Amino acid sequence: MTQETQPVDALTEVEAKAELERLAAELARHDAAYHGHDAPIISDADYDALKRRNEEIEIRFPALVRIDSPRFKVGSSVVADGFGKITHSVPMLSLDNAFSDEDVRDFVNSIYRFLGQLPDNSIALTAEPKIDGLSMSIRYEDGKLTSAATRGDGTTGENVTANIRTISEIPNTLPAGAPLVVEVRGEVYMAKEDFLALNERMAAEGKPTYVNPRNTAAGSLRQLDAKVTASRKLRFFAYAWGEMSEMPSDTQHGMIEVFEAWGFPVNPLTRRLDSIEALIEHYNEIGIARADLPYDIDGVVYKVDRHDLQARLGFRSRSPRWAIAHKFPAEKAATRLTAIDIQVGRTGALTPVARLEPITVGGVVVTNATLHNAEEIERLKVRIGDVVQIQRAGDVIPQVLGVVSSPDDAITFEFPKICPCDLKTPVVREETAGGVEGVIRRCSGEFACPFQRKEHLKHFVSRKAFDIDGLGEKQIEFFYGDKTLPINQPADIFTLKARDEANGLQRLKNRDGYGDTSAQKLFDAIDERRTIALDRLIFGLGIRHVGEQTAKTLARAYGDWASVNEAALAIADGDKAAIEEMDALDDIGPAVVESIGRFFGEPHNIAMVDSLVEQLTIREAEKPAQDSPVAGLTVVFTGSLEKMTRDEAKAMAERLGAKVAGSVSKKTDILVAGPGAGSKLTKAQDLGVRTMDEDGWFELVAVKEA
Ligand code: IVH
Repeated sequence: MTQETQPVDALTEVEAKAELERLAAELARHDAAYHGHDAPIISDADYDALKRRNEEIEIRFPALVRIDSPRFKVGSSVVADGFGKITHSVPMLSLDNAFSDEDVRDFVNSIYRFLGQLPDNSIALTAEPKIDGLSMSIRYEDGKLTSAATRGDGTTGENVTANIRTISEIPNTLPAGAPLVVEVRGEVYMAKEDFLALNERMAAEGKPTYVNPRNTAAGSLRQLDAKVTASRKLRFFAYAWGEMSEMPSDTQHGMIEVFEAWGFPVNPLTRRLDSIEALIEHYNEIGIARADLPYDIDGVVYKVDRHDLQARLGFRSRSPRWAIAHKFPAEKAATRLTAIDIQVGRTGALTPVARLEPITVGGVVVTNATLHNAEEIERLKVRIGDVVQIQRAGDVIPQVLGVVSSPDDAITFEFPKICPCDLKTPVVREETAGGVEGVIRRCSGEFACPFQRKEHLKHFVSRKAFDIDGLGEKQIEFFYGDKTLPINQPADIFTLKARDEANGLQRLKNRDGYGDTSAQKLFDAIDERRTIALDRLIFGLGIRHVGEQTAKTLARAYGDWASVNEAALAIADGDKAAIEEMDALDDIGPAVVESIGRFFGEPHNIAMVDSLVEQLTIREAEKPAQDSPVAGLTVVFTGSLEKMTRDEAKAMAERLGAKVAGSVSKKTDILVAGPGAGSKLTKAQDLGVRTMDEDGWFELVAVKEA
């Protein structure tokens, strides 16, 4: 016996699948040995351990339960390979899928093209909901149900006759006059309501709950004990046929009417339509009704109505040319939530992510869904181990909609107080403007947090921060985490050249994308920024709430780096005077002060900043001119400026002690309007604000144009 050591909890889906296959084969071998002529080859205890392991894996991955699962075999009363096989007299094919209206148009147009000119030039199609269950072929001979088989691989299915007989919606006999041989095909499914009730019963009995109606229907049919199937309330819709000794109708809709007359349930939303527009309209209507239908559907099936046209169209290898399944894009499904992990975004926001047992939703396998934040987890009352309903809409990340069922041993999730990044930094909850605690929790590591570092580095080199030629987002991607020449923190930028020189053969100039000149250019550009303005440094640190303007205000107020650093460290220490001093600055509020305190309260950030500053010469801030004609005034620039860039204009005004605002209000003192100025100019005129063009501005501040 192979000793399996990997715990069930640690198995991936792929491993679990392989393991279930191995266990099924191994247990079957032992069954044969035990029940056949051979002597048993393992002890009862070892045999039971294998069975237990199989069951544990099945409970963790219900979607992987095999049709020949050893769990369904009870001792010697059962044939070793579960159900007998039935070869279909007519293969059971599948359908091609259409995912858009365009695909439906292509499908219908291809039918018209294939058939050429028709006398009445219109081809009717039936539109039927695509029931999300299991297809079944039920054979009647001489009016009596003789066998029933699952689709299997399309050629051979499982003999589930005894189980199908327990479904009261499926007639055991056909009315007199029915053809001698009849094979009715359709979908066995479980109604949503019955699924929920069954799961409640399972939970009450302490048994594992099922994941969705489709899997439950499949599991219920695969019970070797038909009494279990009988207790499961399965249902059926008839929509197709296999072998028929005589055709009672020559159209699809006619056949559905015949099935109904014979006592089979047929779907009430089936229509016969004769234009692409009508098909799409019906599809949309069914889409709206879908959530309220008592059963799950995953699309609408269109079929050419006339059998003679179906015959002319024929088949591709596995699907008919005369039918297509128009799938619904977004879908809800239920699956088990196996864990909640925390993801740290590039801004340090912690997002709980539900890890799910893989499930196909709208044609895509979903394994994760967002839970947004801690409040959402509380609101949904979701716990680890619950079966949850999820929804996927277009490209949107799947959402958890709610709990379907919760086992007794479900575990309540505790939101971490420490960030999962390797710094073990505390998680903080920010206050919103009104002083109320916000829902977002963040890692306080900021620049030092590995999840945030790369984005912070991109910000650090951006145009309004260090603005290094040849070192932008793309290059940060290149250098971040690089093996030979990494840039993992800002100081690394300024040691790049020295580290490269020490790299011997693996020099930057020899690497893809670089040459002698470009490598040298990069080092020169970095050297050029070794001397940096104080406000650019402050802005470059990427402290939350410290934008370009705030950085300028701080630089001007504190003058040099030593003073900024001292104030920030004091604030982090809770020094009241330092807090009040910063809070009193124009345009600086408590959110900025708190954020600065938090940044400088984190030792990793302090170390990162210190090592950076060692590499730099920081220019002191220019003191605003007190005696300039615009000192203390609020200026707005609008229109397309022709003699200076917007950034230059702003810098000039600020250097002269003016405040630059983005919009016109009663507080505006001067509006500088370039050509094409619009609503801001009108508003300024209405408010009686002094307006001027660029020349007027230069005249006012007495600067001669170059
Ligand atoms: S017709 C040759 N009609 O969809 C065509 N199939 O993707 C045979 N299904 O295996 C299928 N509702 O399990 C047809 N109204 C419907 C259906 C339907 C559900 C399922 C069926 C089939 C699968 C094909």
